[in-house]
Amino acid sequence: MPAVTDRGLEHVVVAETKKSKVEGLEGRLSYAGYPIEVLAEHATFEEILWLLWNGELPNQQELSDIMASLAAEREIPDAVHGILRALPAGTHPMAALRTGVSALGAFDPDAELAADDEPARRRALTRLVARIPTITAVFERVRNDKAPVPPRDDLGHSANLLYMLNGVEAGPAAVRALDAYLVLLADHGFNASTFSARVTAATKSDPYSAVTSAIGTLKGPLHGGANERVMEMLEAIGSVEAAEGWVLDKIGRNERIMGIGHRVYKTLDPRAAILRRMSEAQAEETGDRLFHDIALAVADTTVGYFEEHRPELKLNPNVDFYSAAVLRVAGVPADQFTPLFAVSRVAGWTAHLLEQYADNRLIRPRAEYTGPEGRDFVPIDAR
Ligand code: COA
Repeated sequence: MPAVTDRGLEHVVVAETKKSKVEGLEGRLSYAGYPIEVLAEHATFEEILWLLWNGELPNQQELSDIMASLAAEREIPDAVHGILRALPAGTHPMAALRTGVSALGAFDPDAELAADDEPARRRALTRLVARIPTITAVFERVRNDKAPVPPRDDLGHSANLLYMLNGVEAGPAAVRALDAYLVLLADHGFNASTFSARVTAATKSDPYSAVTSAIGTLKGPLHGGANERVMEMLEAIGSVEAAEGWVLDKIGRNERIMGIGHRVYKTLDPRAAILRRMSEAQAEETGDRLFHDIALAVADTTVGYFEEHRPELKLNPNVDFYSAAVLRVAGVPADQFTPLFAVSRVAGWTAHLLEQYADNRLIRPRAEYTGPEGRDFVPIDAR
């Protein structure tokens, strides 16, 4: 086969998947055949988890079962609490999550069995989905010198996360908003973090190693880390009036506008369209419109500029762009935005691990070697 270099693997189809379909030119996303718009409005995170794992929406009994399994697995070992407490206060929450998940693997008797044993795999994956919110909330509490709030087994996934973060039960609107966010971000084809999870699993390594790889990949600002950078941008701009000048200045210095552009979508990201409406509704409800309005001004200026000067790039807001205002108004600190992305995307990562382990082949591309050849070795004292 002739070797073709495709930096960034943009045109490479590396596997088949039944989890989600991303149609970049049409701006469509569906999970197992269901359009994201319908799921975001009607389904809970737990239903989506079941759908991604099993290919069908759960019936009432199946939904009760998955909710009960998650609720029963939320506690993290005391030793992992200790590890989170031992981290320096300035540790980035994604670094804390990566460390916490890696440590969890050592306490799970199913971790080393999971690559080969399906029931053990499902137990380990359930623990991963159940405990990532706990690590996120525990680290948020301890870095602020607050006592961790133990999880509750009578609350759903989103309600429990808000309870662990704030120590009080959230109202139904906040729970529904977080749940819709978790549904929207749960899976997205062969995005970079899912790909790294599958690369790790394809060596028949354990799921904790695979999810640790994925968290490290999600952390970067060209992937999940973009939502935090969008918030920093909105804060740095500070007012609607300042947005246009700020954006044009950035573009003039050849710097990227965070939350804009996508490898696959060459039109509006459908998740961004939904989040924009959520952000608008929140702004209306709370009267707290500043970041929503700055975001609109940034999007208008950026899209307008590129439509005029570089129309071939087809740059539009992506999922991270409007997430920032939505999460901020919900009271989430900016550096916890990407961990919340992980709370959602672990549904997709674990679904892809099920797919990978069930029909595995080592993922191992090649590189085109462009260095020197045929050199004579020179002894060290002659160099
Ligand atoms: N702001 C300004 N210019 C951008 C841009 C942005 N956000 N995104 C892409 N471009 C420009 C690049 O500078 C490049 O221009 P050039 O042809 O003059 O070199 C061109 O568009 C193509 O960019 P490239 O990096 O090759 O495309 P990609 O498919 O690899 O990029 C992203 C996809 C997401 C990495 C990119 O759009 C980006 O960096 N966006 C900002 C970060 C972000 O929001 N990430 C979250 C993604 S969900």
